[in-house]
Amino acid sequence: MTKKVLVTGGSGYIGSHTVIELQKSGYEPLIIDNLSNSDERMLGLIARISGQKPLFERIDLCDRKGLMDFFSRHRDIAGIIHFAALKAVGESVAEPVRYYHNNITGLLYLLEAMQEHDINRLVFSSSCTVYGQPEQLPVTEDAPVQQAVSPYGNTKQIAEEIIHDSSQQSKLRAISLRYFNPIGAHESGLIGELPLGVPNNLIPYITQTAIGKRKELRVWGKDYNTPDGTCIRDYIHVSDLAQAHLIALERLMKGENEKPHEYFNLGTGEGYSVLEAIQAFEKVSGVKLNWAFYDRRPGDVEKVYADTTLANLKLGWKAEKGLDEMMASAWKWEKNLAAGILD
Ligand code: NAD
Ligand code: UFG
Repeated sequence: MTKKVLVTGGSGYIGSHTVIELQKSGYEPLIIDNLSNSDERMLGLIARISGQKPLFERIDLCDRKGLMDFFSRHRDIAGIIHFAALKAVGESVAEPVRYYHNNITGLLYLLEAMQEHDINRLVFSSSCTVYGQPEQLPVTEDAPVQQAVSPYGNTKQIAEEIIHDSSQQSKLRAISLRYFNPIGAHESGLIGELPLGVPNNLIPYITQTAIGKRKELRVWGKDYNTPDGTCIRDYIHVSDLAQAHLIALERLMKGENEKPHEYFNLGTGEGYSVLEAIQAFEKVSGVKLNWAFYDRRPGDVEKVYADTTLANLKLGWKAEKGLDEMMASAWKWEKNLAAGILD
């Protein structure tokens, strides 16, 4: 079987880490990305880690012709890992049409191209956002999908449905991976998350505050129904997450999937509060963080963490890296960025 794997959004945060895992396992990743939220220099850094620069083409998934053209030039693609999407929750509220167009049209064109070129294996980036605030924790895959609180979240729900319907009527075999909170960076410190502008997410905000790029970390809310009053999340190391994509793809390649479309939670199963995350960061970095409490952020769920039994049993995958390792790698990456690794 061919070893070519198309990675859409492969120069982005999770995509770049997955490209490394694919290369390590002897696959030939082909990257399509429009660079709307990533930097082409990431490819050179990938090559520094793996010794191989992956094939890269700057293509927008919503450019149907460009996409079709790509598939006519690249034959024998064994499967696709589809990361490419816009992902900023707040921005999606302000610009819903752009989000629906990018994330849904991009997926539809990809599925059309797959059908046309008889490529039948798809691993899709979904999110625990589909569960909203679950009634039972840890949350399992059969917990009800709840009304999305943002257009971004809705694009994940709609995309899962599109993939599901399509898999019932065609040769498509798909796995939707519902990520909890991916954080951290490659152990080399050579690749990591590259937020454009002011970060929305906790960990890049912490590391940017620690390095002096931001004055103060604002902790959103201290009166949640949790032991210390701050929200609880299931943080997962991006390299563990990347590994799961490879395993999911291989499950499809070996025909081990039990249904045309499967869903798996990807988390550690452990919930940590915002304050615990700050403490872990301070411990591993030795930096005292400047932070203060502010009002709750609208739309935040109080607590969510994964039941990962299904991924453990069916994929044979388990997250290995703990919170300290996640924080240490995120900090190494931030320091490398400050030292000019991209210059
Ligand atoms: P990212 O922004 O770093 O990577 C996404 C990549 O897709 C970027 O390089 C961007 O330039 C590219 N892209 C976006 N739209 C495109 C288009 N129309 N055509 C071509 N390329 C396009 O984000 P990430 O954190 O690596 O996330 C990857 C996937 O995982 C996304 O689908 C995201 O929604 C999903 N996800 C992320 C998180 C998270 O917290 N990071 C959580 C759950 C799910
Ligand atoms: N937080 C702060 N201060 C900040 C940033 C975040 O206190 O500056 C808190 C948030 O209130 C939340 C926790 O840190 O309690 C984690 O927030 P993130 O923004 O890092 O992550 P979210 O869980 O809110 O969002 C993530 C993904 C989204 C996805 C969502 C689904 O980033 O893409 O999970 O729940 F939609």
